[in-house]
Amino acid sequence: MRFEDRLVLSAMAGINNAEFCKTQKASLVILGGFNADKGAMEAGKKVAERGRKEFIFEDPLEGIEKELRKIKGRKFAVNVRSSTLEGYIETSRLVESYGGILEINAHCRQPEFISARCGEWLLFNPYELFKTVEEVSKITITAVKIRGGYELDYEKLSAKLFEKGCEILHVDAMTPGGGCDLSLIQKVSKHGFTIGNNSFVDIRSGENMIKAGAKMVSAARAVLKDRNFFEKMLKSVILSEPVELSRVNFI
Ligand SMILES: Cc1cc2nc3c(=O)[nH]c(=O)nc-3n(C[C@H](O)[C@H](O)[C@H](O)COP(=O)(O)O)c2cc1C
Repeated sequence: MRFEDRLVLSAMAGINNAEFCKTQKASLVILGGFNADKGAMEAGKKVAERGRKEFIFEDPLEGIEKELRKIKGRKFAVNVRSSTLEGYIETSRLVESYGGILEINAHCRQPEFISARCGEWLLFNPYELFKTVEEVSKITITAVKIRGGYELDYEKLSAKLFEKGCEILHVDAMTPGGGCDLSLIQKVSKHGFTIGNNSFVDIRSGENMIKAGAKMVSAARAVLKDRNFFEKMLKSVILSEPVELSRVNFI
């Protein structure tokens, strides 16, 4: 898969529907986060009740498919939370039928999702995560979104994820005090194709993640501040370079 530039719109629950994603000038847009099964959707409802934005669908898969129909013509990934392996498998079949990438959300830290065995729960239960990656990657191109900032062996984790079939590692390289941990991006990018994330707010911060080894860079909050953010970032020669998703270099 070839991307026309290095820019990625990162997932934002309750915001990144097809309509919003289509307004963004990044070569890869990430829809969702969506909740793929009953357990994740119940958690999503509780999160929404306390005022956070969420996509709430009566029928999770039907709701996701409605968005997939509308994203036609764009390269896209779908950020997914599920409390069961079946939820990931069913969503990946759907995503594959529309030519997209499945992004397993091992990143959300809302306690409701963690209690439902979603999001960060997977980061701390790596064998469940590896099994999910193994199964999903038999069906479609698989990305995994992880969060930095913990006492984890991220290098070992990322090597194993790529070995299990993950093709894109999306790294929120957050640091507890705020800002981006470029050394984490450098470490994990040795093992495969990465999207660097956190505090990409201008050309310099985006280029720094590429220089650290990421193939692409994603933004969320900067886009909420400025809907023309990506257009401005395309003025950078580095950020506007095309990039090929290929594992050949890493095997
Ligand atoms: C309103 C909002 C909703 C978000 N929802 C999700 C989500 O559903 N799934 C996910 O993986 N990340 C989610 N994130 C995290 C972002 O994708 C991103 O990783 C994080 O904000 C750091 O990147 P930034 O510094 O560019 O904002 C959300 C962020 C925001 C601001």
